[in-house]
Parts: sequence; structure tokens; C-alpha cells
Amino acid sequence: MKATGIIYGRGMHMGTLKVGIVGSAGRGGGFFGPFIHNPLTEISALCDINVEGLKKTAEAAGVSSIYSDYEEMLEKAELDIVVIGTPMHLHVTQSVMALQRNIHVISEVPAAVSIKEAKQLEEACRKSNARYMLSENYCYMRPNVLVKAIAKAGLFGEMYFGEGEYIHELKELNEVTKWRRHWQTGINGCTYPTHSLGPVYQWMGERVVSVSCVGSGHHYTDQHGDIYENEDSTLMLCRMAKSGLVKIRLDMLSNRPHNMTYYALQGTEGCYESDRGLGDEPKIWLKSRSKEMKWMPLKELEEEFLEERWLHPSKEALESGHGGGDYMVIEDFVDAVLNDKPMPIGIHEALDMTLPGLISQESIKNGSAWMDVPNSRDWQSCGGERQ
Ligand SMILES: NC(=O)c1ccc[n+]([C@@H]2O[C@H](COP(=O)([O-])OP(=O)(O)OC[C@H]3O[C@@H](n4cnc5c(N)ncnc54)[C@H](O)[C@@H]3O)[C@@H](O)[C@H]2O)c1
Repeated sequence: MKATGIIYGRGMHMGTLKVGIVGSAGRGGGFFGPFIHNPLTEISALCDINVEGLKKTAEAAGVSSIYSDYEEMLEKAELDIVVIGTPMHLHVTQSVMALQRNIHVISEVPAAVSIKEAKQLEEACRKSNARYMLSENYCYMRPNVLVKAIAKAGLFGEMYFGEGEYIHELKELNEVTKWRRHWQTGINGCTYPTHSLGPVYQWMGERVVSVSCVGSGHHYTDQHGDIYENEDSTLMLCRMAKSGLVKIRLDMLSNRPHNMTYYALQGTEGCYESDRGLGDEPKIWLKSRSKEMKWMPLKELEEEFLEERWLHPSKEALESGHGGGDYMVIEDFVDAVLNDKPMPIGIHEALDMTLPGLISQESIKNGSAWMDVPNSRDWQSCGGERQ
């Protein structure tokens, strides 16, 4: 462990963990609340290449130590933790730089943008004394946390089908955050899979072993008249380790209202469907609760299955975004760091959520062929193991 003012491990700590945030003028700013409100952490430094934006956010967060150079922040700021909130193609380079200095990392999604990068990240995690977590906050949305608890209690029976959809029209945002035009809509396949796959993967408790990806064609051009390389809607079909099937739809281009949080789960003894808007609500059927095959509102199971922090979230948690989820991600990460607990979404879980999307890009190039998804635990393809 790093030598700082903190005594790590097994429940003991003194002082606060010093946090640096890179990409703080963008999504990194979303981490201010969760770290400011956590009594075990303090934000010590911020970094962004957008100096104007950096100064503004630093003032708002009350942080005086600012850097426009990431490496300089790592060298000088004496950090315990770094938050990677930069565009997706920088996540691995910046995570590896921190891990090599034994600084704990919490990274925005996805974990990596290529298989080569995924291997570099896994190797850096293996060699580092520091810990890594993927900040997959959709796994921390209230209905998703509740379904996870019900699935863990075995009430769905054998789970064999799941769905996740991320429908977020961002043609204009593409022009503002230009990296999206390449990494999200400039490559064909499921380029942004973790929000949809992450929760379903956690519910089913098994990794994806192979994928086939198919697209709906190209119906839009960008402001320059160029066709988007990504097809409007892509479907990534996933074979799970125990033979379950999962369908992930990604659509960042179609003209329509957003729906970034549609999920479904089917088991032999129960099923779940999240809401699709306009008065709909998350609903569940469990054989053990209703012999009549009738939906019940998911929220009726909250008292029975949610932990106290979810049942009655603190004001600070609610203010941090996503109904308290953004706060809980950080709370769990810090708890795992300080108390040597398993990371809730450590490197292998992070890659289980990320690698299928990368392989889907190969599949769609190859006429939607089924392709094996490597297992980062040994980098061999496939395997019928349950996590
Ligand atoms: N989990 C979520 O709900 C969620 C939501 C939005 C974005 N994201 C993820 O967060 C990341 C950032 O997305 P965004 O929408 O904030 O993008 P953005 O472009 O708005 O912000 C990224 C920030 O990083 C800065 N930056 C770029 N290169 C840098 C470098 N080399 N050093 C320091 N700073 C640098 C930019 O100046 C910018 O301020 C992406 O990976 C995206 O996938 C996640």
C-alpha cells in the first residue's frame, strides 16, 4: 500500500483519502458531490486541458490545486485516488499511469476501447498495489439494485434471458464532444455497452462467452453530410456462460425520445420489465408471490429487499445524482479501498462488461458471425464457468 497519512486495511484508517479528478470540467465534475460528502475523502486536485472550464469547476468545488497536465498532477499532488472522467479512449492510458504509481483508480465507462488496451489495463492492475473500479453507475440505479437483490435471493429461478437498451440520441452532442463522433458513432457495433449489459450481467451472475452483432442500417448523416459509421440501432446478442441469452440494443442516432434504462429479465420462476415511460413503472412477476401470472409494481418489494441506505437515502446521497446511486458507487469504492474488501466492479467485472462490446465490433464486420469473448482472468476464449 502507498505511504500516506492513511493507515489502510482491515477497518483501520486515519485522516482522509486524497482524491484527484481528471476531466473535471466534464463528467469528472459529477464526482465532486460524492467525494465532498464522503467523510473519508477530500478532493485535493483537479485536472483538465480545458483551462477555463477547469478554473470554473475548481472554484465551484473549492479546490485550489489545479493542473492542465495529468502526469504532473500524479507526480505532485500526492494522491491516494484518481478519478478518470475523460473521454473513453483515454481511460486506459490514464488508469495505467496511476496504477503504476500505486494510486487507486475509479474510471468512467467503458473500461477500454480495444482488446490490446484491455490487456494492458488488466496487467497494470495485476502488477499494482493499488485497486481499480469501474464506475458503472447504472448498476447502482435503485430498480437495478433491487432486482439484483431479488435475483440473488433466487426468486427468478433459473435466469435464461435478459435485455438492456441504451437509446440516447446524441447527434448534436457529437459535435460538441467530438471524441463521441469517432468512439461512439464512428465505429460500427455496440460501442457503449456497459450501462445496458452491466446490470443484466450482475443479475444473471455469469459472463458473456460469445456475441453476434447486427445493425439496422444507416438512415442519418452528420452536419457535414457524412454517414455515421455506426448503424442506427445495433443489437448485440450475447451467449452467457451457462447458456442464457442476452439482447443489448444501442442506439445513439435515431430521431426519438431517450430511453437509456430499459431492462428485462426472464427466469423459470419470475420475470422483470423496467418502465418504458408515459405512466409505466418497473414491474415484476414472481411465482412465489403470485400464482396468477399478474404483474406487481417492483417498488412493493423495496422494504423486503433493499438495504437501509437505499430505503432511506441521505440528503447528500440524493443530491449526488441518479437517485443516490452516484454516491453509493463512491461509498463502496472507498470502503473497498480502506477495508481490503473485494471491489464491487473490479478489473475482471469491468472487462466482463466492456469486452463483449469490443468483440461485437468484430462480429458486425464479419457478417454478424458469432465470436468468442475472451475471459480476462486467463485471456482464453469462452468457458462455461459461473462467476
Ligand atoms: N456514467 C455516466 O453516466 C456517464 C455520463 C456521461 C459520460 N460518461 C463517460 O464519461 C467520460 C467523459 O464524458 P463527457 O461527456 O464528460 O465528455 P466531455 O468531452 O464533455 O468531458 C471530458 C473532459 O475531459 C477533458 N480532457 C480531455 N482530454 C484530457 C486530457 N488529456 N487531460 C485532462 N483532461 C482532458 C476535456 O477537456 C473535458 O472537460 C466518457 O468516457 C463517457 O463515456 C459517463
